Amino acid sequence: MHCTRKITDDLVWIGGSDRKLSLFEAVYPVPSGVSYNSYLLKDDKTVLFDTVDNAIGALFFDNLAYELGGRALDYVVVQHMEPDHSATLWQLLALHPETKVVTSAKALTMITQFFSALPAERVVTIKESDTLETGRHTLSFVAAPMVHWPEVMMTYDTTDKVLFTADAFGTFGALDGAIFADEVDFERDYLDEARRYYCNIVGKYGPQVQTVLKKAAGLDIAYICPLHGFVWRTELDSIIGKYDLWSRYEPEENGVLIAYTSVYGDTQTAAELAAVKLREKGLKVKMFDASMTHTSYIVAETFRFSHIIFATTTYNNGIFIKMEELLHDLVAHNFCNKTVGIIENGSWAPQPAKLIREMLVGCKDVTLLDEQVTLKSSMKEQNEAELDILVDRIAADFAKPAHTNSDNDSAVDNAALFKISYGLYVLTAKDGDRDNGCIINTAQLLTDTPRRITIAVNKKNLTHDMVLKTGRFNISVLTDKSKFSMFKDMGFVSGHNEEKIADKPIDIERSSNGLVYLTENVNAFISGKVIETYDYGTHTLFVAEVTEARIIGDDDSVTYDYYQKHIKPKPAPTKKKGFICTVCGYIYEGETLPPDFECPLCGHGAADFEPLA
Ligand code: FEO
Repeated sequence: MHCTRKITDDLVWIGGSDRKLSLFEAVYPVPSGVSYNSYLLKDDKTVLFDTVDNAIGALFFDNLAYELGGRALDYVVVQHMEPDHSATLWQLLALHPETKVVTSAKALTMITQFFSALPAERVVTIKESDTLETGRHTLSFVAAPMVHWPEVMMTYDTTDKVLFTADAFGTFGALDGAIFADEVDFERDYLDEARRYYCNIVGKYGPQVQTVLKKAAGLDIAYICPLHGFVWRTELDSIIGKYDLWSRYEPEENGVLIAYTSVYGDTQTAAELAAVKLREKGLKVKMFDASMTHTSYIVAETFRFSHIIFATTTYNNGIFIKMEELLHDLVAHNFCNKTVGIIENGSWAPQPAKLIREMLVGCKDVTLLDEQVTLKSSMKEQNEAELDILVDRIAADFAKPAHTNSDNDSAVDNAALFKISYGLYVLTAKDGDRDNGCIINTAQLLTDTPRRITIAVNKKNLTHDMVLKTGRFNISVLTDKSKFSMFKDMGFVSGHNEEKIADKPIDIERSSNGLVYLTENVNAFISGKVIETYDYGTHTLFVAEVTEARIIGDDDSVTYDYYQKHIKPKPAPTKKKGFICTVCGYIYEGETLPPDFECPLCGHGAADFEPLA
């Protein structure tokens, strides 16, 4: 009987899950099982992307027969020759003598090693950037060596923008009927297992993953289809962003992971006391007993946290075996970019601190703290003093340096922020029959391929609400010929109080999306369709796909700096005491400006005022 899921009109998932497996790769516990994904493309030609582990072979062949519906299988693309994706390859080729194997030269060598040599007429050897036409679809191949083996090749379907990623972007865990990541609460239920999968399976090869991520950045990707776990069709940036962090060995969280081993409980007491003291300093802490928790879970958490404390006992004149095993595993997985503290115990000859330092001294960007704690059997007062010094040292890393202390207003000179080359734009939107617009200085190109822009809009603006509701907007790029009157009309009054488009003397046209754009003193307009929003308190950041963009003039774009110097009227000399809005020129009279004051003309806050000269 078959059990398949449709991915796109032409693509179907024909894999399955294994919940009987205890140890994936004979090493990693998989209490929630694991999936082996295989995909069938049904075009003029039929193309299978990898086979599966023997554990689900029977279901896989039923799925394949059902989805082929009597058609021949023209190609099997072998992206990765590790047997969890290739164990059933030879059986497949026996069942389908018509099928050609599309694969890299390295994978072909491995096919011969795992099985036997294939006749030349059954092989299509491909390399980076080669393409395969299957009818409506064109497949392009992307070399991904060492993600996770050297032969790995990813495949990009240029027609439906599907990237088949082999092991990358996979996760431990059975699928439970879902196939798309957006069908589950991925962050709550699967992210930890995705991290454990990545860090333990591919974590050693961060630079190689970075290389592939750079290649992927040049592709327009609508679907990510890995060989384990879920297909991504929404929020691709979230999983790609995690892979970027993990492969750069950047911590996801500032906090302290404490991994300890303790034969009789005294080292654990020291570790617990360290945790309490760190918590009292307001730091996040996670603890593992390395004798009780499988190393793979701790390896994953070391990728996650910025600081690590190893607490362990002496054993056979060395490091306690379970801690030594963990440390070996960490070094094997390219342990780097961490700050490490050590708590050691030894009743007559403590050894771990010296030996841990020797093991980690060659790890890149690892700071081994001099501050350490040495117990002789159990915690004593002098040990607590050592512990306090270690905790203080770690906590010092999390203290905000004075020049970034946001509580200190004098540390932020607005003039410095204005040196960023902001442009100025009229943002327009339409809700029903009502057009509206406002001035923004926060538009920028986010990515070139695909073309995406961002805008940040104050929530007080009616235009903000319209964009949020309709998901569409235009920005008109203002030039250095812009008149101050236009800024007043569009920026210093609110659409909540008056008509800003219909009742103002501005020249407009409508773009393909039906929204207005300005045509006077504007050199271009860009239409955006919102794909993501981020709430930043006073403002919403909109990420949008560019749906139309046209040049409509030759004058230079105006910058915020130019506006300040040449367009905004200079205030008349005055003896009055007060503050002037640097955005619109409104003057507040008084000795002091209330910190919550908002400009009644343009709505900007006290931070945008400066004292009258
Ligand atoms: Fe899922 Fe590297 O095999």
